[in-house]
Amino acid sequence: MKNGILQGTAAFASLLFPVLAFAAPAQPEVSYKNDVSPIIHDYCLNCHEPKGKGFETSGLDLRTYKSLMKGTKFGTVIKPGDSFTSIMIQVIDGRVHDSIKMPYGMAGGLSKAKIGVLKKWVDQGAKDN
Ligand code: HEC
Repeated sequence: MKNGILQGTAAFASLLFPVLAFAAPAQPEVSYKNDVSPIIHDYCLNCHEPKGKGFETSGLDLRTYKSLMKGTKFGTVIKPGDSFTSIMIQVIDGRVHDSIKMPYGMAGGLSKAKIGVLKKWVDQGAKDN
């Protein structure tokens, strides 16, 4: 009896699942141009362009998609598809020592919402979109 109900439920769920999957809205794609670049412009660029403190120390130039993907003089800071190991996300997420938390010296750091946008962009493949 119990089994019958469970099987019935499973059968019902498997019938319903394709419908739900189809109806679920696609994850909106984060855009480098419209979403990521404005955050970088407001919170990072004054230090991460030539003559800026961050650029002079690390070599990281955040003026363009290309220069961002090039990274610092030590290597890349974005690993497309993997925000957890991307250095740029680690330093804004506070998963590193305070001395390299970004934006450097900014109390509290970026808002959760802004960090979320950058993370999602990396997880969606860090595209030049
Ligand atoms: C007030 C200046 C300043 C601002 C604003 C700033 N940075 Fe930096 N950034 C630095 C400095 C200085 C370093 C070098 C830190 C070090 O290695 O000691 C650095 C280094 C970095 C690094 C390399 C970390 C490493 O060790 O590999 C990344 C990535 C980075 N910044 C990203 C950002 C991002 C993203 C923003 C904006 C959200 C930002 N920075 C805003 C000054 C700044």
